[in-house]
Amino acid sequence: MIKPHGSEQLNPLYVQDAAAREALAKEAEGLPSLLLNSAAAANAVMLGAGYFNPLAGYMNLADALSVAEKLHTVDGLFWPVPIVNLTSESGIEAGSRIALRDPNVEGNPVLAVMDVEAVEVVSDEQIDFMAEKVFRTLDPEHPGVATFKGLGRTLLSGPIQVLGFSYFESEFPETFRTAYQIRAEIAERGWNKVVAFQTRNPMHRAHEELCRMAMDDLGADGILIHMLLGKLKPGDIPAEVRDAAIRKMVEVYFPENTVMITGYGFDMLYAGPREAVLHAVFRQNTGCTHLIVGRDHAGVGDYYGGFDAQTIFDEEVPAGALELEIYRADHTAYSKKLDKVVMMRDAPDHSKDDFVLLSGTKVREMLGNGIAPPPEFSRPEVAKILMDYYQNL
Ligand code: ADX
Repeated sequence: MIKPHGSEQLNPLYVQDAAAREALAKEAEGLPSLLLNSAAAANAVMLGAGYFNPLAGYMNLADALSVAEKLHTVDGLFWPVPIVNLTSESGIEAGSRIALRDPNVEGNPVLAVMDVEAVEVVSDEQIDFMAEKVFRTLDPEHPGVATFKGLGRTLLSGPIQVLGFSYFESEFPETFRTAYQIRAEIAERGWNKVVAFQTRNPMHRAHEELCRMAMDDLGADGILIHMLLGKLKPGDIPAEVRDAAIRKMVEVYFPENTVMITGYGFDMLYAGPREAVLHAVFRQNTGCTHLIVGRDHAGVGDYYGGFDAQTIFDEEVPAGALELEIYRADHTAYSKKLDKVVMMRDAPDHSKDDFVLLSGTKVREMLGNGIAPPPEFSRPEVAKILMDYYQNL
């Protein structure tokens, strides 16, 4: 099986032994506590689940700056996005052991225990530097930039031990999986070549066919549909609706035992190319050998070129940094001429009018008015679930 990123074995930071976990939870009640912001909580969940292997906790300022600038920590580990605990709280001291509380669960239970190695104040210039490198823009309208710049200026770094998986386990019991659970399931199924499909949307025909094309082209044993379950910008479709639509599509249109439907607990960064590289890192940690990267992967608005999330793998990911490979998908749509979904690069004689193309805005408008998009664009079963959602908004 493909190795995790940066180590021989996966080292999730979740405390797996029940007695040790109970003892830690008890200790945590007596520790000074910090209420995390959602971004830092999501990082803890990803660290706990093994997705952010081999990191042992939150990065210090030198690592965060180095990762933002050159995709490597000071010690040379390849890593594309700073994994930080930025806060606006003061009064926490280096050398202390603290309980990290979950902002996304009622009562703010302890999510993790942290050994604070350093407390560093980050200047506005350093925040901007990191934001500009990661998001390629400082536009405050960019949802990722706005979130990142609002996290606080005090950076707490050090190792953590994780006690649970926030609301993801309870709200998405069928879908939320840790990286180590996915690794185990892939091994159990006996799959060798596994293609991951990242998504934050319900899957329309183009998404569905992309999975099928990748699977056929690569001769893969299976597809891991791996959906984001954390926070999204306003207007994006909630995870439970996407989950239902994806499950229906797989049930009706995919052969049995070829797809694993799973999700991970992280908030969307909308960092386009850099997020695509992070996606590749953490899919390798799940045991996948390939990741589909298509058009405007993890993008938002017009901030990124349609295929910047592919070219970053040529320009900024050194050879050998990752074992996982990306499957590059061109813009995919239904061809009226060929009567099937194709990648545009495979239909060079087509003009725009030969494809069924609908903007996201148009699709939302149709669904909101109870009009199903054409079956060339959305499966009717998927359209029904989405129409129910939009009409009950
Ligand atoms: S993302 O933010 O998670 O990337 P989305 O769920 O829409 O958004 O996309 C999932 C994956 O499908 C990404 O790799 C994206 O590039 C790809 N994709 C979505 N739609 C198309 C399309 N029409 N053509 C090519 N690739 C696409």
